[in-house]
Amino acid sequence: MFEHKTRPEWVAVEEFLSDVVVRPDGALQRAVQSAADAGLPPIEVTPNAGKLLKLLVKSSGARRVLEIGTLAGFSTIWMAQALPDDGWLVTCEYLAKHADVARANVDAAGLGHKVEIRVGAALDTLAALEAEGADAFDFVFIDADKENDAHYLDWAVRLGRPGTTIVMDNAVWEGSVLDPSMDEVNAPGILNALKLMGEDSRLDATVIQTVGSKGWDGFALAVVL
Ligand code: SAH
Ligand code: DHB
Ligand code: MG
Repeated sequence: MFEHKTRPEWVAVEEFLSDVVVRPDGALQRAVQSAADAGLPPIEVTPNAGKLLKLLVKSSGARRVLEIGTLAGFSTIWMAQALPDDGWLVTCEYLAKHADVARANVDAAGLGHKVEIRVGAALDTLAALEAEGADAFDFVFIDADKENDAHYLDWAVRLGRPGTTIVMDNAVWEGSVLDPSMDEVNAPGILNALKLMGEDSRLDATVIQTVGSKGWDGFALAVVL
């Protein structure tokens, strides 16, 4: 795993903001604990980022959400909490063990009826969704293997519609987007996705840099034109 360096004061402020402003509910807190208990890596979005996803889903009026990279379902729960009762979220996860933990967490949060977890390589699942003629997604969150970020971004456009909101986690990756030799596995994929966001006439995009418990990173936001 690529090392993300944090600072104590970033973590302290993140905890303060989580306690005072974000206030994750018990289901979200238990989801993080269950992931740790099951030995999953602690790489879920921070609570302040999860809350941002929830508020973006809510403010965009999204009814159909696509997530790429489930882990234990922490970001899944944040987004599903913003969906109407007849909304739908499909989330792609490669590892069956992660999907099992996520299924239990999503069900325990009372959101099971809105969430479908598809196990397998996301590129296969995305192709299957297209082949099934799935209705357009209103909101897409990309947070899986960074090598494929540019492919996931392209799929998000293809499975979306004008107005679809796309968020991509890990858009700065400790600044390695400026020097991909820092992480030859992940940085080139992230950089390709950022270039696509800037160049692709189907997209309008920005990136906000972030610091916190997960180090120095960024959240990319794109809208399909
Ligand atoms: N979005 C989650 C964190 C996801 S971590 C949250 O914030 O709570 C990234 C996840 O992507 C891991 O569970 C990993 O197993 C999964 N993943 C990695 N490669 C994948 C692939 N090719 N297809 C689908 N999932 C993949
Ligand atoms: C890793 C993956 C993530 O999605 C993330 O937000 C942080 C770290 C990782 O694979 O190391
Ligand atoms: Mg991430």
